[in-house]
Amino acid sequence: MPYASIADLRHNVGQTVAVRGWAMTTRSSGKIAFLVLRDGTGYLQAVFPKNEVVDGAWDRFATVTHEANVLVTGRVREDARAPGGYELTASDVTVVAPSVDYPITPKEHGTAFLFEHRHLWLRSRRQVAIAKVRNEVEHAIADFFYDRGFVRVDTPILTGSIGEEAGELFATEYFDLGSAYLAQTGQLYVEAAAAALGKVYCFGPTFRAEKSKTRRHLTEFWMCEPEVAFADSEDNMRLQEDFVSNLVARVLDRRKEELTELERDTAPLERVTAPFARISYTDAIAALQAQGSDIQWGTDLGADDETALAKAYDKPLFVMNYPKQVKAFYMKENPDDPRTVLNNDCLAPEGYGEIIGGSQREDDYDRLLARINAQGLDPATYKWYLDLRKYGGFVHSGFGLGLERTVAWICGIPHIREAIAFPRQIHRLYP
Ligand code: 4AD
Ligand code: MG
Repeated sequence: MPYASIADLRHNVGQTVAVRGWAMTTRSSGKIAFLVLRDGTGYLQAVFPKNEVVDGAWDRFATVTHEANVLVTGRVREDARAPGGYELTASDVTVVAPSVDYPITPKEHGTAFLFEHRHLWLRSRRQVAIAKVRNEVEHAIADFFYDRGFVRVDTPILTGSIGEEAGELFATEYFDLGSAYLAQTGQLYVEAAAAALGKVYCFGPTFRAEKSKTRRHLTEFWMCEPEVAFADSEDNMRLQEDFVSNLVARVLDRRKEELTELERDTAPLERVTAPFARISYTDAIAALQAQGSDIQWGTDLGADDETALAKAYDKPLFVMNYPKQVKAFYMKENPDDPRTVLNNDCLAPEGYGEIIGGSQREDDYDRLLARINAQGLDPATYKWYLDLRKYGGFVHSGFGLGLERTVAWICGIPHIREAIAFPRQIHRLYP
């Protein structure tokens, strides 16, 4: 008898197949019993009519417990009301491996308990839906850049040069060479690659030893960082709005079922189309002050400020030209207002805040060196990075999109820790 995956049952209508999976729920009325199982490809209800099952099957059904690994045989039936469109009229069930006292029960558990059991919690319908949306976004990212002629360049995770901020580094001893840092960004390396390949991106894990315990911070998160030769800050924002709207449209198109499972209101996502609104940091401060905030020009925007600003818009918003002092050393000075830089953050709507940080890069050797020194960074570790300004310096821009923040927003989940299979936070290293 052939094994069938739940997702492929449409090819087996009318046939008798064996399905392997995990038992999610069982119920029995005495004459007929029901088992819902999951095999990773989908969900399936198997119906056991007592007088049609093989000898012993009815008793074996009674031993099926939550999350037991089961083998069910039966005939595939099309059923429009069934979750995946198919049901199994089952004739037999075997417990392949039992599951005794599965810790996650239908009752409500606290989040601490669920994260301690993350390795098991991943099996829940909601977590499966989030994982599939994340996978869709990852593929959409790869397709978006491949279709536009970008070359993916994989950047190192062990780095000598500090990518963003000295205060938030994980360091480790690196043989005789002193400290190596876990990459906060791949940016410096994709800048070098852009001079070789024109349009490039990296996409991988990045690390921040931030002591932030917010719903938007992880110590390890995935970031996608394109870098484009001959692109200025305006080009950069056009690429971002095209990119973000493309990712959202792809999920809306291909992950309807998962968004329904997550009870995501898709109306706000349908509105995510280019162009996005743009305001300057200076205007943002004025807008916040007009709303009664006591924020002063020169301080960075906090999560609450971002939420307040984004409220006035029904799609993502670009905030541009932040003060130099709150941004990284590599951003290009704004010729129209040298107190500021040619950068932008992209704020997601619905209170999700910053999902992208991007900028035009400082391409002038002397200015970049001055900024490295001013931020107390060691110029010796940036010799190679400064070389890019020495040998054919070029206008270039890029940005970083945080994958977990983007997935959390698209899924409509409150905390980004659910947007990655095994989140790393200051107080969490297991599972
Ligand atoms: O704004 P950030 O720090 O920018 C950079 O790292 C640049 N080097 C990117 C570039 O221009 N190539 O981070 C970019 C994005 C943020 O907008 C956010 O989405 C995400 O990365 N991010 C985090 N996500 C989860 N946890 C954290 N601790 C994050 N820090 C940043
Ligand atoms: Mg940022």
